[in-house]
Amino acid sequence: IQSTMIVDKDFKLAEVDPRVYGSFIEHLGRAVYGGIYEPGHKTADEQGFRSDALAAIRALNVPIIRYPGGNFVSGYNWEDGVGPQEKRKRSLELAWWTTETNQVGTNEFADFAKLVGSEVMMAVNLGTRGIDAARNLVEYCNHPSGSYYSDLRIAHGYKEPHAFKTWCLGNEMDGPWQIGAKTAAEYGRLANETAKAMRWVDPTLELVACGSSGSGMDTFAEWEATVLDLSYDNVDFLSLHTYYNNNEDDTPNFLARSLDMDQFIRSVAATADYIKAKKKSKKTIYLSLDEWNVWKSQGSSRAEQLWQVAPPEFEDVYNMEDALVVGCCLITLLKHADRVKMACIAQLINVIAPIMTENGGPLWLQTTYYPYLHTSIYGRGTVLHPLITSPKYDSKDFADVPYLEAISVYNEELSEVTVFAVNRHLSEGLELTVDLRSFGAVHVLEHIVLEHEELKACNTKQSPETVVPHNGGSAQAEGGRMTALLAKASWNVIRLR
Ligand code: AHR
Repeated sequence: IQSTMIVDKDFKLAEVDPRVYGSFIEHLGRAVYGGIYEPGHKTADEQGFRSDALAAIRALNVPIIRYPGGNFVSGYNWEDGVGPQEKRKRSLELAWWTTETNQVGTNEFADFAKLVGSEVMMAVNLGTRGIDAARNLVEYCNHPSGSYYSDLRIAHGYKEPHAFKTWCLGNEMDGPWQIGAKTAAEYGRLANETAKAMRWVDPTLELVACGSSGSGMDTFAEWEATVLDLSYDNVDFLSLHTYYNNNEDDTPNFLARSLDMDQFIRSVAATADYIKAKKKSKKTIYLSLDEWNVWKSQGSSRAEQLWQVAPPEFEDVYNMEDALVVGCCLITLLKHADRVKMACIAQLINVIAPIMTENGGPLWLQTTYYPYLHTSIYGRGTVLHPLITSPKYDSKDFADVPYLEAISVYNEELSEVTVFAVNRHLSEGLELTVDLRSFGAVHVLEHIVLEHEELKACNTKQSPETVVPHNGGSAQAEGGRMTALLAKASWNVIRLR
């Protein structure tokens, strides 16, 4: 079967905002404790951060990391996580029914983010708290000095402000599971008033309002419209959260899930633009997909978790087909680079994550690490409009699913163009011909492939290199045309110059 792409440097869709390659670390499971932070681990630095985790994260070049939650943030008192560690409270954590030791808090996370070269996307608690705690936290983090909270930060050993720029106004406030869940009208008003006060402390902030926890929520779309109606002028982004799984074991349908992400993005953009029209505004609200991933596990019950410190939770083991879906989602985000300016694969380590560690033991990389790594490294520059032809199939929930999912990104500085492509066909290779008209005579620098005969194959502590990329793909270029045979069920990165 055959497919084609036209890649032209004049067909500019948008610059990639590097923040689409963001991730997320919540005080949940072993993400913080046992993930990034484990004093006593043989690789721990003097502060207690695991150097093996720092290295694996640094390699991903993660531009921004959302913190501290998630559901966790809706019951979090940020004051408990600052000051001398030995004096910090142990708190009952009601989002996940565990004990929070508060050994890692805002300042430690800022240190960690520096070590891995990331910005922090801070979230404020709009569940149990509100305007006051939020504006105090902004003052603590970003105000230089001369006020109570900025001087407190200095007294805690952090003379320079953290200068966190991107802030989430709460988390999933539409979800009944959220501590302090709200109606759209309650939340819209609170988000608006909190945004005003936070920006009066620091006018440079970029603020993200909560959209729906998922497109399946009963209140979906109405929630977005109401929240934006009440906060339009004071927020910059609207969040989208979405997770996929193959718990029905229907792989063709699972591989099509990125079409759902595509439709979700289109629907939220349309809803935001409806409010823009209603308000006769010149301002566009951008989208932040600040939680997305494959998520299969159900999670423990309250009784199983009860008040343990950092028990393992949501430690999904990802296989080859999960990596293909993650790849398709990354391509989908890039296809919307004109509207989606931030996105966070949720999460980064140990909790539904591309990176896994064992307490006291080694670190290994899941299958999903690789499409994330490749797009983050090679997908910087300008997204070119994808003009694609591909044979299609129908699945249980989707019609006209193209076998080829693809996008190209042009990095002008390096004069490199990269094609990211997934072949969704489970039993046949897909011939791809790319017309590179405006690029002249290009050559293939590398054709990286992630593939495995067994779609359920995964990397584990015992066999961490079962599914790893190779660069033996078949891409060849001649006279402005590139041809490749994309292996069945494969992730491909074709780098050309
Ligand atoms: O990422 C795990 C959880 O999923 C987050 O805490 C919550 O926001 C979402 O429901």
